[in-house]
Amino acid sequence: MRVLVTGGTGYIGSHTVVSLIENGHDVVIVDNLSNSKISVLDRLYQITNHNIDFEKIDLLDIDLLDEVFVKYSIDCVIHFAAFKAVGESQEKPIEYYKNNIGGLLNVLQCMRKHNVFKLVFSSSACVYGTPDCCPIPETAPIRPQNVYGRTKAICEDILKDTSNADNRFSFAILRYFNPIGAHESGLIGEAPNGIPNNLMPYITQVAAGIREKLTVFGNDYPTEDGTGVRDYIHVCDLADGHVAVLNWLDNNKGYCIYNLGCGRGYSVLELINTFEKVNDIKVNYVIGPRRSGDAATCFSDPSKANNELNWKAVKTVEDMCRDSWKWECYARSSNL
Ligand code: NAD
Ligand code: WQD
Repeated sequence: MRVLVTGGTGYIGSHTVVSLIENGHDVVIVDNLSNSKISVLDRLYQITNHNIDFEKIDLLDIDLLDEVFVKYSIDCVIHFAAFKAVGESQEKPIEYYKNNIGGLLNVLQCMRKHNVFKLVFSSSACVYGTPDCCPIPETAPIRPQNVYGRTKAICEDILKDTSNADNRFSFAILRYFNPIGAHESGLIGEAPNGIPNNLMPYITQVAAGIREKLTVFGNDYPTEDGTGVRDYIHVCDLADGHVAVLNWLDNNKGYCIYNLGCGRGYSVLELINTFEKVNDIKVNYVIGPRRSGDAATCFSDPSKANNELNWKAVKTVEDMCRDSWKWECYARSSNL
């Protein structure tokens, strides 16, 4: 299949491009490089030995996007491109709604015009908000608690409405839990701009001496050690989930929703301890107050994806910690 990957130079997109190529698909990447670097393409070449077609385009420019659909014969779209920082989304709601919803609408319009009917959409566990119970099934209530989460919930509704109105479409909505880790080569990984919001990039930057210490946001949660519990998933397992769902798109119309997670939770302290152990390096941390909006515990029930997609996250939290650190070391030594 020829797959158009929007946001394909970004963190999850670049790993998915590797999986797609390893599974015999052709790829064209569209990205405006607002949160990624052009050098990802060289590193993708080193990993895959393939020159990957790339178009530097903002999805909000529908005329340029249309030209991509004219230039390439596209069978399917995997739509990663979006803004993703929860805190920033509260400060810049207009930009977030415009980019995340406007981008999807432009992609859908071009798809319809050029008779492309299959799309995979990056959604997020944050559409569930604070869950009533864990593990969280796909049927749990949708009640996002921030602008970013609401952009994802709205996009999900757009896809459901569109597939109900036009039965030529097949949409796969994937709700990711907490992706961490990096490709085992260490050549691609997550490259946050400025101070990281998420736990793993913060840990790796403290370990690398770029930041003095990590603040653990609260140790008085009703969890085993009092710190927040999340469902961390290796980004390469997540990437493979996208390849697995392509089969569903080939054989079904309408839309499907799958949680992509490991189905078990790790606490902040467990993640820090595992990171220190597998990499034999110290991570300085202090216990601070809770971060507003954080749930105590959030982990998935991934059994629907396991059973229906024949996909399962197989990498361990040790793999995640080792590969995140390998990437951080490479990125620092290469001035990325
Ligand atoms: P990322 O920022 O690394 O990648 C997104 C890419 O999209 C970037 O390369 C950016 O330059 C590009 N982009 C953004 N807006 C664009 C536009 N208008 N036109 C063209 N390109 C544009 O993010 P990621 O972590 O790889 O996330 C990918 C997707 O998965 C996003 O939709 C995100 O919301 C979702 N998601 C991420 C996480 C996570 O923790 N990383 C969790 C759940 C869901
Ligand atoms: C994990 C745990 C924190 C930083 C977010 C988004 C979600 C999805 C994934 C996009 C929590 C604790 C964190 C720190 C800490 N992204 N923590 N100190 O909040 O589960 O999910 O990223 O879709 O939508 O909300 O991930 O990595 O920020 O936090 O103690 O400096 O680490 O309290 O328990 P989160 P996270």
